[in-house]
Amino acid sequence: MIINSAEYLLSSPDLKHCPKGDIPEFAFAGRSNVGKSSLINMLTDRKNLAKTSGKPGKTRMMNFFLINESWRLVDLPGYGYAGVSKDMRKDWLEMMGEYIVKREQLANIFVLIDSRITPQKIDIEFLNWLGEYEIPFAIVFTKTDKLKGLTQARNINAFKAKLSESWESLPPIFISSSVSGKGKKEILDYITTIIKSR
Ligand code: GTP
Ligand code: MG
Repeated sequence: MIINSAEYLLSSPDLKHCPKGDIPEFAFAGRSNVGKSSLINMLTDRKNLAKTSGKPGKTRMMNFFLINESWRLVDLPGYGYAGVSKDMRKDWLEMMGEYIVKREQLANIFVLIDSRITPQKIDIEFLNWLGEYEIPFAIVFTKTDKLKGLTQARNINAFKAKLSESWESLPPIFISSSVSGKGKKEILDYITTIIKSR
């Protein structure tokens, strides 16, 4: 897929204020600082479409971007980071849960996982929660440019093993780097397939 146009639409704190219209949406979720906004910029070839930051907690609302005037990317706030309290995670689910569960336009959620670290409970819990509500998702391992191949493979395999404890089959999995552009074609192809099948 070639991205001809990418424009910021609006930011919304809740389901009620999301854009209208029957247009497929692809949302990006994951812990703060995992690279959601950076991945959106990488996929669209726009440096500052989504605002990024070295400090976790940059994205505070759901940000909608219209792509090729026919589908949307949705940048979600992070669902917590090291040191964040359980209450804040609960707040996140209260804020985003309704969008994720009820949004008819939502075609797929990409759940971003930091490839540099061992499996985190909060990520597994979120994936299991998506499973309970039968929300279609794919996993994207991020920041793979920062890692040697072996460590990367070890972390990703550990994560898959952890997932297999609660899932019979694994979701689509992508390996990405917003610095090198790795994974871009695969993710855009996946989005194209879903749009065509709707
Ligand atoms: P919140 O909005 O706070 O939830 O974070 P986010 O998930 O949107 O992360 P963001 O895209 O703002 O990136 C966080 C930091 O990680 C920034 O300093 C990025 O430059 C860096 N980063 C993101 N993706 C990559 C990547 O693929 N490789 C490297 N090396 N750095 C990355
Ligand atoms: Mg962000």
